[in-house]
Amino acid sequence: MSLLEFEEVHQSYGDEEVLRGISFEMDRQDVEVVIGPSGSGKSTMLRCVNRLTDIDSGDILLDGDSIYDRNVNDLRRQVGMVFQDFNLFAHLTALENVTLGLRRVRGMDKEAAAADAMDHLDRVGLADQADSYPAELSGGQKQRVGIARALAMDPELMLFDEPTSALDPELIGEVVEVMRDLASEGMTMLVVTHEMGFARSTATTLSFLDRGRVVERGPPEQLFESPENDRTAEFLSRLTEVHGGNR
Ligand SMILES: Nc1ncnc2c1ncn2[C@@H]1O[C@H](COP(=O)(O)OP(=O)(O)OP(=O)(O)O)[C@@H](O)[C@H]1O
Ligand SMILES: [Mg+2]
Repeated sequence: MSLLEFEEVHQSYGDEEVLRGISFEMDRQDVEVVIGPSGSGKSTMLRCVNRLTDIDSGDILLDGDSIYDRNVNDLRRQVGMVFQDFNLFAHLTALENVTLGLRRVRGMDKEAAAADAMDHLDRVGLADQADSYPAELSGGQKQRVGIARALAMDPELMLFDEPTSALDPELIGEVVEVMRDLASEGMTMLVVTHEMGFARSTATTLSFLDRGRVVERGPPEQLFESPENDRTAEFLSRLTEVHGGNR
């Protein structure tokens, strides 16, 4: 059974239909990379998975069950999300940003939460920055705290919405490396990114989203080497020029 399945998902904001019938399935341990022009619906698609945005019709299944048939807080614990702009609490240290969910959502006591949070900060290479506030961290470090915070919930699926787009170029690599490690440890990941090096090296499947439809989907090498759709070809050649393939 697939871990995640979109079944003919439609979604609109007012009169504007953003998702126009999205269907795909992901198995456990798959890394699905989604690319597409600005406004094509990539963020909306991710936000639907943990019900930050409601769909109009169709269904989204996690582990075979509709996400609408389960408790939304349980769903959000099972589906971690990493945002472009980090979404850290500025008044909390790195450690406190990670312990917050452990205490509130997983109900751990202070000591257990701190110990668990340290393990997750260590996993993203930030054990030595546990007491730093977000303002004292680089963008790459902030994003790694964001990843540690999501991992601390022990999710089945991780969503990444352009996790490196707000970073200076020299900081992108450290975040990509953490994501690659996660993938190699078997985490199932749905990733919106324009990092083509990551897509080439790590994606099991690459999807090109255009105006709310998946117009092409397949193994990354297939889309890179022999795209069937003209818009895919054009988009990928422009992306590769800008974002290269070296990471
Ligand atoms: N909260 C909202 N209310 C109304 N319209 C929205 C909202 N969020 C997104 N939209 C619109 O939905 C469309 C798809 O937006 P979305 O953010 O999903 O695109 P995207 O592919 O993630 O784009 P980008 O690459 O710029 O992040 C856009 O036309 C956008 O203006
Ligand atoms: Mg977006």
